[in-house]
Amino acid sequence: MASQDPVQILRERFAAAMRDAFGDALPADADPLISPSRQPELGDYQSNAAMPLAKALGRNPRQIAQELAARLDLSGVAEPVSEKNIAGPGFINVRLSTDALARLLDGLEDHDLGVERPARAQTVVVDLCGVNLAKQMHVGHLRATVIGDALARTNARLGHTVHRQNHLGDWGLPIAMVTDAVMDGVRNGTIDLNALRLSDLERIYRAAQRACDADEKGLDAVKRYGLGPKALAELEEQVAGANERMARAKATLLNLQRHEPETVAVWRRIAQITLDECLAICRRLQANVAEEHTAGESTYAEELAGVVADLESRGVASVSDGALVIDLKDVGIAEPLLIRKSDGGFLYATTDLAGIRRRVQKLGADRVIYAVDARQSLHFRQAFAGAKKAGYARRPDGSDAALIHAAFGTILGEDNRPFKTRSGDNVKLSDLLDEAVARAEAAIAERSPELPAEQRRINAEAIGIAAIKYADLSSDRAKDYVFNFDRMLAFEGDTGPYLLYALVRIRSILRKAAEQGLTPADGAARAALRIGAKEEKDLALTLLRYPGTLQSVADSCEPHRLTNFLHDLAGAFAVFFRECPVLQAETPEMRASRLRLCALTGRVLEDGLGVLGIPTVDRM
Ligand code: ARG
Repeated sequence: MASQDPVQILRERFAAAMRDAFGDALPADADPLISPSRQPELGDYQSNAAMPLAKALGRNPRQIAQELAARLDLSGVAEPVSEKNIAGPGFINVRLSTDALARLLDGLEDHDLGVERPARAQTVVVDLCGVNLAKQMHVGHLRATVIGDALARTNARLGHTVHRQNHLGDWGLPIAMVTDAVMDGVRNGTIDLNALRLSDLERIYRAAQRACDADEKGLDAVKRYGLGPKALAELEEQVAGANERMARAKATLLNLQRHEPETVAVWRRIAQITLDECLAICRRLQANVAEEHTAGESTYAEELAGVVADLESRGVASVSDGALVIDLKDVGIAEPLLIRKSDGGFLYATTDLAGIRRRVQKLGADRVIYAVDARQSLHFRQAFAGAKKAGYARRPDGSDAALIHAAFGTILGEDNRPFKTRSGDNVKLSDLLDEAVARAEAAIAERSPELPAEQRRINAEAIGIAAIKYADLSSDRAKDYVFNFDRMLAFEGDTGPYLLYALVRIRSILRKAAEQGLTPADGAARAALRIGAKEEKDLALTLLRYPGTLQSVADSCEPHRLTNFLHDLAGAFAVFFRECPVLQAETPEMRASRLRLCALTGRVLEDGLGVLGIPTVDRM
């Protein structure tokens, strides 16, 4: 099936002209360099190919442009190119014919909005969410969940096989500390396992960490400076107590590793309490992260000794200062990757090596995408390099899977520092969502007092969630951004509510048309598209960017490319709707054509918002 994307079509036509004009002299990396025209009076798209070609061939760029123009076959796509379409040193401008535009839009409508099945579907694993046991989801988990989910949806939309993996932090000494504390509480009757909630667990976790933290420095200081018998006694007691708690936590870890039933039962309960709340928030966020995506660190526990033995026996890892490390200097990373501590314990990185092996060799991943905080960049550079060295990323054809850290920046408060509550705590994600929804509800009450209360509540939930997700996804992924309720909830501007409103408007036009017995009919009965007015053409050209945009989101792992596109589309639609009467169009043919444009715009908006996991509303 032919592509619906003018950029793709022009790329092919120009490539043919380039081969035709220069044959064997054509450099292998010669690119047609198609982009929207910078001089709309000369065309819709331009090719910048002539300049680099001229350089490579040692010739005059304008002449090259003329030769290309002469060989260019634009039949069925655009008007022929003449001297007057060549600008400056050799930019070749191309204007699509209105017939071709109408045909491409027909194709967009008929062929899944222009999204072509991939020649070979890939298996894509997306590591997302990644919450930790006994801790509530905080603002930092918003991005890991929302960005990861959007990337998973994008790849699935393009026809790839997607596996979501929630790499729960559910194993290791800190988890053993809280497990031990809970067991202790159960034994002495202060904790009821069935009534335990995540907020309790978080408190117990903090207390357990403090209790295990021996103040050795304090004790040293007391001894060194002779601070007296009372201080000495106090610190000795603290250190002894902490050491005992730590010893118990270590014993609990051993019990977990040995599958001691009572310990495992308590640990399971802690995991379930955490997961239940986490998944409830994911549902509320309309992020597709569910029980079946859970693949926590604990699921690798049994594999780690084998991984480490394998790496050591093959000489991939070696002992250094009692620890086992993979040296990465040969691949340009100065810091070695630590995979076993000198006390024999395994690390976060050891688990990630096992994770890469499972994802590539068991799940069959061609690409593994990690939606994780940018502050873990060094960790992932090391883990990816270590895994490749170990051969764990090797696919059946012998090549390595692509391992991609889709790193995201930090959410900042108005003071440009990491977003915290006034008391300096992490902001709980559920509080954040509650506030967005409450503010959306207030705005709706003001704007549309006529809506029934139940509808207001439903809308507020959708608009609040859409606002938060859109603000997050539309920020350049790798950068930090400042969290601002007023900005993200505004009905105007580059916001979620603005897009929802654009869609509501389209749905309302289509409803009105239907009341008058007008439908943008499908198939053979549908009216011909007539792209006459400038605003119609701009809207058409924007619509045709959709499939290319989805592909570029998948390639770059940057959802903001799609939010930018949707914002452009809503903008092009607003101008079209202002300038081109639809239901009041001059002729029935024009009205029918414009209704189809409305319907197609609605479909693309819906599809795009769906790919981002952003909820929509019918009326607002
Ligand atoms: N639990 C980790 C954290 O809170 C995130 C997990 C990311 N995924 C991974 N495969 N390391 O930092």
